[in-house]
Amino acid sequence: MNNLTKGHLPAYRAVIAGHGSFAPGKLLTNDELSEMVDTTDEWITTRTGVKVRHITEDNESTAFLATEAAKRALAEAKLDGRELELIIVATITPEMVFPSTASFVQRALKAQKAWVFDLSAACSGFVYSLSIVQQFIESGRLNNALVIGAETLTKITDWTDRASCILFGDGAGAVVLKRSEDGRKGILYSTMHSDGNRWEALNCQAYGSRHPVSKPLDDPKKIYMQIKGREVYQQAIRRIVETVNDCLQVCELSIDDIKMLVSHQMNARIIESAAKRLKLPDEKVFININEYGNTSAASVPIAFDDCVRKGKIKRGDMIILVAFGAGLTWGANVVEF
Ligand code: UT7
Repeated sequence: MNNLTKGHLPAYRAVIAGHGSFAPGKLLTNDELSEMVDTTDEWITTRTGVKVRHITEDNESTAFLATEAAKRALAEAKLDGRELELIIVATITPEMVFPSTASFVQRALKAQKAWVFDLSAACSGFVYSLSIVQQFIESGRLNNALVIGAETLTKITDWTDRASCILFGDGAGAVVLKRSEDGRKGILYSTMHSDGNRWEALNCQAYGSRHPVSKPLDDPKKIYMQIKGREVYQQAIRRIVETVNDCLQVCELSIDDIKMLVSHQMNARIIESAAKRLKLPDEKVFININEYGNTSAASVPIAFDDCVRKGKIKRGDMIILVAFGAGLTWGANVVEF
């Protein structure tokens, strides 16, 4: 079928057995934001595609969102948390410095058999995590794994910076992966990349070891996300196009073979520009940033779950999950669902 399956068909594949997502109930509309900073619904809609975002309350943490999404994915996969062998939570807004957010999810799911950790690759964290699980399942070391992307970005948003606060939202998405002996289905290919030289394009500098909580900050804004919007914008389009083309080439697929591109929802214009360069028709590009904003590592699994629930992809369809974010990091997974 493609060169990955022709020459060296692995004995096992990681298949998506269940998926789920969860977003906090509180909503923040563009009109409400327009009362907080100098902006308008029209500007936000045309420049980003965002109409509304979900916002956590003070008592809603990243592990809480992650656990709710995970419960939905586990229920669909018909798997008890006690059977899980690995839990990865992709996040840049963890529960605390340590232990990992995944430790709290493990506890909530009674997943005592699992080994667990967080993965920090910003918006690419979920696709990075899938590539790790793919390796462990293909090598026969794991029977199953839970991968969650979960963020509470609004807790590190500068609500006085109109160039960034309009973009972000909170939420979580999860998938349960199981080992399958059907070599044609599941995660067929993953490609991952980074460029640490561009770390300044997107960051939140407090309170790591460079700017520890024990020392006063030289700039109080360092507690918030800082973005160089234009640089990210241009890099994102370029890297998404490159990465999707890599997937098509390595897997010997054409645009016709792809049912849907499920991209990280960073900005609708970025996704649309990349899709245009890839000659992907509108119906093969999923966009739900209007309902969630940019939720970083949670964005791809929320979009995937939403896409399935809206009936736009079904079992057997070939999809590409693609992400780009801070680091810089980018990557993609080709999945036959
Ligand atoms: O997932 C990875 C993280 N995502 C990102 O980092 C997002 C990537 N970048 C973007 O999505 C876009 O660059 C932004 C949405 C952040 C900004 O959109 P843009 O089209 O690149 O706008 P810009 O920064 O070039 O600013 C254009 C104008 C400026 O005014 P002047 O200098 O032309 O007078 C800004 O001051 O728009 C102004 N502006 C706003 N106006 C109304 C910036 N933010 C706003 C706003 N409302 N919220």
